[in-house]
Amino acid sequence: MAYSEIINLRHSTRSFDNFLLSQEHTDEIKKILKSTESLSCQRLDWRIEKIEQAASYQLFAPVKEKNGISFIEYGFQGEQAVIGLTALNFGTCWKGYSNSFGAPCFIEFGKEKSNKKSLLIKTFTHNGVKKELKDLIMNGSAFLNNENTFLLNCCRMAPSAINRQPWSFDLLSEEKIKITVPKAGNADTYSIDLGIVLAHFFLGCKDLGVSIKNTILSVNSCVFELN
Ligand SMILES: Cc1cc2nc3c(=O)[nH]c(=O)nc-3n(C[C@H](O)[C@H](O)[C@H](O)COP(=O)(O)O)c2cc1C
Repeated sequence: MAYSEIINLRHSTRSFDNFLLSQEHTDEIKKILKSTESLSCQRLDWRIEKIEQAASYQLFAPVKEKNGISFIEYGFQGEQAVIGLTALNFGTCWKGYSNSFGAPCFIEFGKEKSNKKSLLIKTFTHNGVKKELKDLIMNGSAFLNNENTFLLNCCRMAPSAINRQPWSFDLLSEEKIKITVPKAGNADTYSIDLGIVLAHFFLGCKDLGVSIKNTILSVNSCVFELN
């Protein structure tokens, strides 16, 4: 299945059926984690733990330096794992609080019970509805072509904390695209969202078979150049 198809299938799952992760599943997930690429050669040490008194598991990696750059990396690697877990038919949900292992947040996963969402979650997240592409492009829409439209649509479907979809896109040319999130001070809560959207761009490029060069400009923006 193409990454773009998995990206379109993915949604946050908040209700899980009881199940025990088999050795086979664990091995498959470890394989996904091994194949996850990093933006800056900073490989994170992802771990799988059962969540106590819940039907689900968590995927997380300890992060030594709590700064925007490592959070971008966290989102980038973590979202590749989310897409891999979705392909294995697991339900996933990023969870925006840290755990005792020093991770900035974690990915809950398991067997999805139903896609019924609580009214509260529906209200806070606009039921997961995504913004239109035209509303996310700030500059350079004249440079849109089939290839970059495909990539930006992959980005548009990315999960974000409280579905804020904080990203904006500037097309500097047909091959050069800047992705920006707002600056949020030291803690930079948007950096994980940025890493996640960058992962969607990156996986879209894999579908197209194009190679890319990325330049992280700051904790809130990155430029991709398509080759
Ligand atoms: C960094 C991050 C933190 C999140 N934290 C939570 C959370 O604590 N609880 C929750 O129910 N959903 C959480 N979400 C899931 C978002 O609410 C969800 O991605 C968003 O509403 C879009 O819906 P979708 O994932 O179905 O596309 C988080 C997502 C991200 C990316």
